[in-house]
Amino acid sequence: MKNITPIVSIIKNENASHDPSVPIRISGWVRHVRGSAQVKFVSVNDGSTFHNLQIVLEREELLALPIHTGVSLVATGHLRPSPGKGQTLELSAEEIQILGDAPPEEYPIQPKKHSMEFLRENAHLRLRTQTFSSVFRVRHYLNFSIHRFFHERGFYHIPTPIITASDAEGAGEVFTVTTLKEFNTKNVDSFSADFFGRKTNLTVSGQLEAETAALSLSKVYTFGPTFRAENSNTSRHLSEFWMVEPEMAFYELPEDMELAEEFLKFLLGSLIHDLPDDMEFLSDRREKEQAEKPRESRDSMSLLEKLNFILTSPFQKITYTDALQILASSSMAKKKKFQYPVEPWGVELQSEHERYLVEKEFNRPVILTDFPEKSKAFYMKRGENGTVRAMDVLFPQIGEIIGGSQREDNIDILKEKMESFGISAKELWWYLDTRRFGGVPHAGFGLGFERLVQFATGMNNIRDVILFPRAPGILRF
Ligand code: 4AD
Ligand code: MG
Repeated sequence: MKNITPIVSIIKNENASHDPSVPIRISGWVRHVRGSAQVKFVSVNDGSTFHNLQIVLEREELLALPIHTGVSLVATGHLRPSPGKGQTLELSAEEIQILGDAPPEEYPIQPKKHSMEFLRENAHLRLRTQTFSSVFRVRHYLNFSIHRFFHERGFYHIPTPIITASDAEGAGEVFTVTTLKEFNTKNVDSFSADFFGRKTNLTVSGQLEAETAALSLSKVYTFGPTFRAENSNTSRHLSEFWMVEPEMAFYELPEDMELAEEFLKFLLGSLIHDLPDDMEFLSDRREKEQAEKPRESRDSMSLLEKLNFILTSPFQKITYTDALQILASSSMAKKKKFQYPVEPWGVELQSEHERYLVEKEFNRPVILTDFPEKSKAFYMKRGENGTVRAMDVLFPQIGEIIGGSQREDNIDILKEKMESFGISAKELWWYLDTRRFGGVPHAGFGLGFERLVQFATGMNNIRDVILFPRAPGILRF
C-alpha cells in the first residue's frame, strides 16, 4: 500500500520537516479503544516501535465504524500535539479504512492480562501483545548485532549444512532425516536405499564443518538452527534452537574465553543502548512479575540493573576442580541441600551447582574450565590430569549460555579419543584431514541464541523467545 508512514518515524519525530498541511497515513492493528459517543481514542501499533500511536476519532461517520481490539486498519489524518499523557503527538483521523475485523467474542488477544500458557496456545497471535512484540524486536536486534560483532572483527560468516551425517557432540541425540517408509536407526546399512544413500540426521552443531573453514580463513562463524532430540522438558531447552558458533585458528583457550566475554558484553551493551524503550518495558514487566513471588525468591536486581551489572563485572574464571572443592565445602553440601552429588572428582555439575557458583559464591558470570575429559565431547583438547581445555560460560538464572573449547590438534590423541568415544575415523576422514594437512591450534564456542534472548528479555521460559517452540511432545504450529 502506498504512502504509509511507519509509526516509529512519527514517534521519533522524523516527520518534523513534513508539510503539516499534507495528511499522514498510518497502518496497523488496534491495541485498545476508549472514549465516548462523541470522541474515541484508538491506540494503533504497527510493530515498528514499542509505542502505539493514538488516533482520535471525532467525525460522526468515523465514530460509527466497528473499531475494536485486533482490527487492522489504515488511517489518514493530521498530526497534532496530544494533550493526553503518554504521547506527544496524536493523529486526528479524517479517513479510516478497516482492512480486517477481529470479532471481540472470538479474538483471543483482548487488552487484559493473559497467562503465558494461554499465549503459547495462541502463539500465532501472541506477537500482537506488547510483551511478545518487544521480545521479538530484541531477538532481531541481537541477531543483527551478532553479525555486526563478527564482521567488525574480521570474521567470515560460513553457514554449515543442516542435513549432515555426523553427530558433532557424539551424544546420539539426533533426529534422523529419511525418505524411507520403514527404517531401523540401529542398522546403518538399511539406509543404503535412502535418499542420500546413507544414514543422515539434522545437525546438532555446525562446529566440525566450521573448523574446516577456520583452518583456511582463520576466523569464521556459523549461525543457524540446530536440533537435539534430548528428552529435556525444562524452561532452558528446545528441540530446535539457533546456535552461533565462532571458530578461530591460532586461538587457545585463554583467547577463546576472552572473545566469549567480549562478545556477550558487546551484545547486551548495544541492546541496552539501542533499544531503550523495549528494554525498559521488559525490565518493568519482569519487576511486576517478581512482585507476585515470595520475597526470598525474587530477583535482587531489576533486569536492566542486572544487565548493566554484567557489563561492568569481569567474569569469574575457575577450573572445574576448584569449583568442585568450593561446592563440596559449601554449607549447601554440608546441609545436604544439593540434590546431586559434588564428589567424587569427575561428577557432572548440575544446574543447581552452576547456579550456586554464579548466584551465591561469586555473584557474577562464571567461566568454568578444564573439565574431566570423559564428561565432554571427543574433539576437545587434552589438558592435564585427565582434563580437557573446555569452558562453559554460566549466567545467573539460566546457567550455561556458552559451551566451547580449544580443539584437539594432535592427530594421534584425536584418533585415540575418537576410538574411545566410539566415533568412526572412517566417517570423519575429512575432519582428520584438517589435522593431517596444516593443522594449527584452534578454538571456538557455541552460544545458545535463545538462551541469550531469554536472559536479555527476562522471560522465564525459553519457549517464549522463539516463534513456534519445539520441545518433546510440543509442536502445535
Ligand atoms: O554446549 P553445547 O552442546 O556445545 C556445542 O554444541 C559445541 N559444538 C559448541 C562449539 O564449541 N562450537 O551447546 C552450546 C550452547 C549451550 O551452551 C547452550 O547455550 C545452547 O547451545 N544449547 C541449547 N539451547 C537451547 N536448547 C537446547 N536443547 C540446547 N542445548 C544447548
Ligand atoms: Mg555444553
